[in-house]
Amino acid sequence: MNLPFDHANNVLDAAILGESSRGRPAVEAHDVTRTIGDRVLVDHVNVDVAIGEILAVTGPSGAGKSSFLRLVNRLDEPTAGKILIDGGDYREIDTSDLRRKVGMVMQSANLFPGSVRDNLSFGPAQSQQGLTEDEIDELLRRVGLEGYVNNDVNTLSGGEAQRVSFARTLANKPSILLLDEPTSALDEDSGRAIEELILKVVAEQQMTCIMVTHNASQAARLARRTMYMVRGRVVALGRTREVLDAHSVV
Ligand SMILES: Nc1ncnc2c1ncn2[C@@H]1O[C@H](COP(=O)(O)OP(=O)(O)OP(=O)(O)O)[C@@H](O)[C@H]1O
Ligand SMILES: [Mg+2]
Repeated sequence: MNLPFDHANNVLDAAILGESSRGRPAVEAHDVTRTIGDRVLVDHVNVDVAIGEILAVTGPSGAGKSSFLRLVNRLDEPTAGKILIDGGDYREIDTSDLRRKVGMVMQSANLFPGSVRDNLSFGPAQSQQGLTEDEIDELLRRVGLEGYVNNDVNTLSGGEAQRVSFARTLANKPSILLLDEPTSALDEDSGRAIEELILKVVAEQQMTCIMVTHNASQAARLARRTMYMVRGRVVALGRTREVLDAHSVV
């Protein structure tokens, strides 16, 4: 094809950023806004996330990153604008289906008292699906915790607890994974193990992932595109390196 240089470059950019011939994005935010009283937490956010893409979300404390993530799985609802999941307005999806489809892992593991098995079984039991022992073993293998099934969660290290938290989210077989600073409470090695896990599950299952992080090098390792937010607004959205170079990330 003989394209003018700029056009060729745009096509190349689009391909690199996952924006060409990708069909329908898994997540679309259209002018998504959330206000509480006169506070604007999220301000006209527009972004598409392609199937299989990892999008990093960064920006200063209080920028609205967590608030945005909570809107994507409908823990909160936009006060204006809309969110499409697989092309459809998510208000038309049954809430429990949406919860299964869109998994979330927070900064701290938030496991409930009991064994690793108890924590992994809970979600699937809610939806009457249940988990077989083999499925539990497989989940634990994937997060590198073989043999931990009967361990009391109180005895786990921070890194192990966070991996159980991942396994618990994966037990619901989500197609979209929302991560809110999933490694910020962990030491470097445990954080890297979680990063490996994210890359592995996203690649293996063609998952779509939105990851909030304050860690610029983590964003660079995991995400081709980064969205930079300030005071609820998207001030930059593009290649991770370019966005991070243009904005000093805290
Ligand atoms: N339920 C709420 N009611 C009122 N204001 C809120 C509420 N939740 C969050 N906020 C405010 O909205 C703004 C955005 O908060 P948010 O937690 O989304 O920021 P963040 O970018 O995730 O910050 P951090 O990097 O510190 O986690 C903050 O000013 C916060 O105080
Ligand atoms: Mg936050």
